[in-house]
Amino acid sequence: MTDNKRQILVTSALPYANGAIHLGHMLEYIQTDIWARFQRSQGHECYFAWADDAHGTPVMLWARAEGKTPEELIDMMNEQHKSDFRDFGISFDNYSSTHSDYNRELVEQIYLKLDQNGYIERRFIEQLYDSEEGMFLPDRFIRGTCPKCKTPDQYGDSCESCGSTYSPTDLIDPRSAVTGSEPVMKESEHFFVRLADFEEPLKQWMNSGALQPEILNKLQEWFIDGLRDWDISRDEPYFGFRIPGTEDKYFYVWVDAPVGYIASFRELCDRKGLDFDAWWRQDSAAEVYHFIGKDIVYFHTLFWPAMLMGAEMRTPTAVYAHGFLTVDGAKMSKSRGTFIRARTYLDHLHPDYLRYYFAARLGPGTGDIDLSLEDFVQRVNSDVVGKVVNIASRCAGFIGKRFAGRLSDSLPDPDQFRHFVAARAEIAADYENRNYQSAIRRIMKLADEANRYIDEEKPWVQIKEAGKEQQVQAICTQGINLFSVLMAYLAPVLPFTADRAGIFLGRDVSVWSNMDQPLTGVEVNTFQPLLTRIDPLKIAAMIEASKESLQPAATEPDNVEETPIEVLADEITIDDFLKVDLRVARILQAESIPEADKLLKLTLDIGNETRTVFAGIKSAYDPSELEGRMTVMVANLKPRKMRFGTSEGMVLAAGPGGGDLYVLEPDSGARPGMRVT
Ligand code: MSP
Ligand code: ZN
Repeated sequence: MTDNKRQILVTSALPYANGAIHLGHMLEYIQTDIWARFQRSQGHECYFAWADDAHGTPVMLWARAEGKTPEELIDMMNEQHKSDFRDFGISFDNYSSTHSDYNRELVEQIYLKLDQNGYIERRFIEQLYDSEEGMFLPDRFIRGTCPKCKTPDQYGDSCESCGSTYSPTDLIDPRSAVTGSEPVMKESEHFFVRLADFEEPLKQWMNSGALQPEILNKLQEWFIDGLRDWDISRDEPYFGFRIPGTEDKYFYVWVDAPVGYIASFRELCDRKGLDFDAWWRQDSAAEVYHFIGKDIVYFHTLFWPAMLMGAEMRTPTAVYAHGFLTVDGAKMSKSRGTFIRARTYLDHLHPDYLRYYFAARLGPGTGDIDLSLEDFVQRVNSDVVGKVVNIASRCAGFIGKRFAGRLSDSLPDPDQFRHFVAARAEIAADYENRNYQSAIRRIMKLADEANRYIDEEKPWVQIKEAGKEQQVQAICTQGINLFSVLMAYLAPVLPFTADRAGIFLGRDVSVWSNMDQPLTGVEVNTFQPLLTRIDPLKIAAMIEASKESLQPAATEPDNVEETPIEVLADEITIDDFLKVDLRVARILQAESIPEADKLLKLTLDIGNETRTVFAGIKSAYDPSELEGRMTVMVANLKPRKMRFGTSEGMVLAAGPGGGDLYVLEPDSGARPGMRVT
């Protein structure tokens, strides 16, 4: 298979630097990683390079609210993102940031080329402006009443209530989300890319097999309306790259974000001594694939290829879009604890579990993918642990104890082994076509066959019969070899488990070229359990932890649903309860935090000390009505660093969820510091 070695670059969409990685992101990054690992397993030269998307208004405002520089924040997030990805086994070759010198240089180069080639147009436009803050307002930073259905407090570009889209100037009673002041119209010069100039080459590109059929349809619709000019400039203040030849204009974040793919790859080339131009010049034979979510198709199938064409660079071989992740059938929700961060997941569960589940659900299309938690536990336990790992553990014991780790000199059923290896072409085609669910189905069918073989041969019975030793060694050798082939097939999906299996087998299962050579007459290593069953209690704990990780709104995506539901917690013992140190507290001070939608900063007296607690009760209380009141707090909660300071506990409040809340108050006579039992 290595005789026609391909050169492949894969990318995932760059996560915004102002938010934590969650399982929705991980769906994409795991999908991409499986593909990259698969390509490498076939002996191809495959690199996976991507970055944080660091620029834009939200990062700028976040930094201001924190009293930090954007650079400080994006560096911190970059470290966090990288460690999340590493711990999920994402095998990226380079992870950079769009705020890099490499990217600046490439963005300028591409822009100048577009300009030289006559694709950039400059003209004055009018936009809403916050004169208090001295900034033009992006659509998402303007709120007002929907012009169609009259629902108040809607974004400047679309209404969440009736779904209509409009221009921010159509809003009734528009307000700046930054200062709350009424925006005014102001004129400034903007730079545009004339997309219509690329209509023909874009049509050619999209019909070259670069797109999934449903995306192709969507694109054809966009063409019917004609391609409008694309505004690529933003006025000061903005966190981004300045446009060459201007004093106060910046590239719109969506200009330098996709260039970040190339910049990250270039960084890798310099580090590894690869020939960058060979990959990116117009007639390059290398392949470039972008994995993205279906929400950002427009940017990747129109703007991006047009930019590359205008700059006389190669276009992507294909853009692959996936659907959105739901949890238990609904949009991820903080109040239900299903808005799960990558780190929270990793604190409770093994990464290979989720990688397996996503693989088992992912097909080549753009349909949404549901993480049903019950199904997750059931499938991982029955497939990965119950079927695949089980084959090895059933055989390894005998080989280790009875035969000092030595496998027999030949396979008792070489035909069956060949049949396992013969599935390779179909499974490879499934991976190549991103039909992971089909690959998994085939692999599990084989795993069933392997288990049936062991069930029928019953080594645990034969071992007790005189003279059957060799027979048992042969059966177990057969089982271990079938397991080895299955692990090779699963290695792109389960990298951690495959590594451990490789240690046991004494051979790297992540390369497929040697899978047809059975392991015989050699010794295997001591078998260590490869992966244990998911304990459903861990799921419950993860959901609980996700409920607590309520963070200030500005750092989170805005597609978070907040539906209150009633949940009765699991039964606990008195000892569990006594672990919680509840104390009577007096609220000395309550302050509103202007940048946070939900939080009040409370200063609490608990007898011999004062505590600062950030409580999500802003919607229910005016700060002044809380001052002087008594309440109950969790005093031994691990301190949480938040954007505005450290929260040193939690106050107790009751309510149906959402913003409807009632802070608990002890009976009169209780004094600050008293323990609540
Ligand atoms: N920064 C842009 C991408 C720039 S690429 C040049 C962006 N960032 S994002 O953080 O919002 O999303 C990153 C990727 O994660 C996108 O492809 C997006 O579709 C994907 N997902 C974010 N939430 C998701 C789900 N809930 N489910 C599946 N994918 C999701 O867009
Ligand atoms: Zn509306």
